[in-house]
Amino acid sequence: MRYIDVENLTFYYDREPVLEDISYSIESGEFVTLTGENGAAKSTLIKTTLGILKPKRGKVTISKKNTRGEPLRIAYLPQQVASFNAGFPSSVKEFVTSGRYPRRGWFKKLNAHDEEHVKTSLEAVGMWEYRDHRIGELSGGQKQRIAIARMFASDPDLFILDEPTTGMDDVSSADFYRLMHHAAHKHGKSVLMVTHDPEEVKEYADRNIHLFKDQNGKFACFDLHTDREQNVKGEVQHA
Ligand SMILES: Nc1ncnc2c1ncn2[C@@H]1O[C@H](COP(=O)(O)OP(=O)(O)OP(=O)(O)O)[C@@H](O)[C@H]1O
Ligand SMILES: [Mg+2]
Repeated sequence: MRYIDVENLTFYYDREPVLEDISYSIESGEFVTLTGENGAAKSTLIKTTLGILKPKRGKVTISKKNTRGEPLRIAYLPQQVASFNAGFPSSVKEFVTSGRYPRRGWFKKLNAHDEEHVKTSLEAVGMWEYRDHRIGELSGGQKQRIAIARMFASDPDLFILDEPTTGMDDVSSADFYRLMHHAAHKHGKSVLMVTHDPEEVKEYADRNIHLFKDQNGKFACFDLHTDREQNVKGEVQHA
């Protein structure tokens, strides 16, 4: 089932085209990486896909439903989410628990199932033992891991992740990629993840979308191609 469908998207910051005529799609059950050099407009593509930025031309369609016919739930992890205020007053557990509220409504008390989900999410990133720590006491990589745990706690259908493992060590990063692979392949989730290290993710991801600079244009235009060498699932789209 198609969760994201982007057709002929063009985006400008002021008068400079940053993305030109980009098309891609993501199906449920796929783990897709998005690569490109610094400034290749990866974050911009993600933000236009989410509707945070408005494209100048083109069409973005996000499925309203998941594969079970329920409203589609999207999690977005922005780039450098770990740089949030070090003085953040809540404990690790409170912070991750807050990820459950959109499911329950703010005024409903969380039940044992919610509690279990929070525990599993913290365990998944190896941070359960830090549950009573204040967020301000954590390292950058640990903050990144609890931001990921909070996202897991919300149990989304579609994960949109902008360099989620920044500041995390190699073991934690590999554990995270393995989890995302499992989420896609065993639970039918969709993952679109920006990464600087496609080699590191290669064995876990299904395919890669690469943004590259168009040398012909006067402006700094970027185009898109899909790496067919990887285990391609679903439809491959070219700009
Ligand atoms: N708010 C903005 N206003 C104007 N130009 C911007 C803005 N944000 C980004 N840009 C420019 O758009 C281009 C793409 O930026 P973007 O952040 O999407 O790249 P990126 O691929 O995510 O880079 P990185 O790998 O460094 O995260 C860059 O040339 C950048 O300078
Ligand atoms: Mg970026």
